[in-house]
Amino acid sequence: MFKTIEWKKTGVVMIDQRLLPGKEVYNTYTDYKGVAGAIKDMVVRGAPAIGVAAAMGVAIGASGIKTSDPAAFRKELGKICDLLASTRPTAVNLFWGIERMRSVAASHPGASVATLKRLLVDEAKKIHREDIAICREIGRHGGTLLKDGSTVLTHCNAGALATAGYGTALGVIRGAIDRGKKIAVYADETRPFLQGARLTAWELHKDKIDCTLITDNMAGYIMGKGLINAVVVGADRIAANGDTANKIGTYSVAILAKEHGIPFYVAAPLSTIDLKIKHGDEIPIEERNTNEVTQLRGSVIAPKGIKVRNPAFDVTPNRLVTAIITEKGVVKKPYIKGLKALFAKGSIK
Ligand code: MRU
Repeated sequence: MFKTIEWKKTGVVMIDQRLLPGKEVYNTYTDYKGVAGAIKDMVVRGAPAIGVAAAMGVAIGASGIKTSDPAAFRKELGKICDLLASTRPTAVNLFWGIERMRSVAASHPGASVATLKRLLVDEAKKIHREDIAICREIGRHGGTLLKDGSTVLTHCNAGALATAGYGTALGVIRGAIDRGKKIAVYADETRPFLQGARLTAWELHKDKIDCTLITDNMAGYIMGKGLINAVVVGADRIAANGDTANKIGTYSVAILAKEHGIPFYVAAPLSTIDLKIKHGDEIPIEERNTNEVTQLRGSVIAPKGIKVRNPAFDVTPNRLVTAIITEKGVVKKPYIKGLKALFAKGSIK
């Protein structure tokens, strides 16, 4: 099985997701600027994986600071965190991961530089370990919602590639399969970056999970034929009221699911829930390079000079979400109460 991201003696090692499914290449990053670039350019992507990468970026950056003066070290550390936080705006896991690293330094005010460096590396490794355990718990809770023999539609990639391993939405599918259920998957291609075609189809195929690839505009037809029993997607940021930002096109899928009476589940760790944000319209939506729309893997498919938009995410209003599956359990409406209650349950170690 491939590893999405790993902390090794040589540096932070990540599978280059831009090259999949054609080539399985692992890049090693030895400084935080390299890790920041990898997040920005989507070598690594998917909210939880971005959180892990950012934490490892802070750790590797801290390890490289050349001072033994704790005050100077903390100043440099702050700059490293700020740079990593500027890479992508929507997935709150990025800021969550960096915040965990900042709080390690904050909670050891008298520590030497050598101790802080060690503690930061330990914390990044812990975040990585926890993410895999969290995904398995999401799978355990979510797996019970899928009936044996179900066919699930998913959008984008919320799998092992989007996390430290196992996945959130695909974790739910794996959780059901691991418990002996027969589950088939329809994967939306997910224009423009093709995370569904390139990544979800790749990892499910590798795992021998029954997967059928469709283009995004086929979802309504497939649902209309009665072929889908549930939709399961991941999330990049969930507001306190349950409004969910996820890959562009998720909102359309949610509307189609509603029209066809199909349950629409969001699977995400607590680190994706942002209680500071009340409604989905407060979530910052990343606009990416228009080349992603006007070109398909390097070849131009639109007239030069045409006006283009490329929002990378959309927000699905809470009314369209049947349930949110987390590592602490499944939450239903009213989300405002249920999501808050989850945080009282403590974290998975
Ligand atoms: O732009 P990406 O590929 O980082 O977007 C990823 C998604 O939208 C995923 O669905 C989301 O991060 C959940 S991943 C478990």
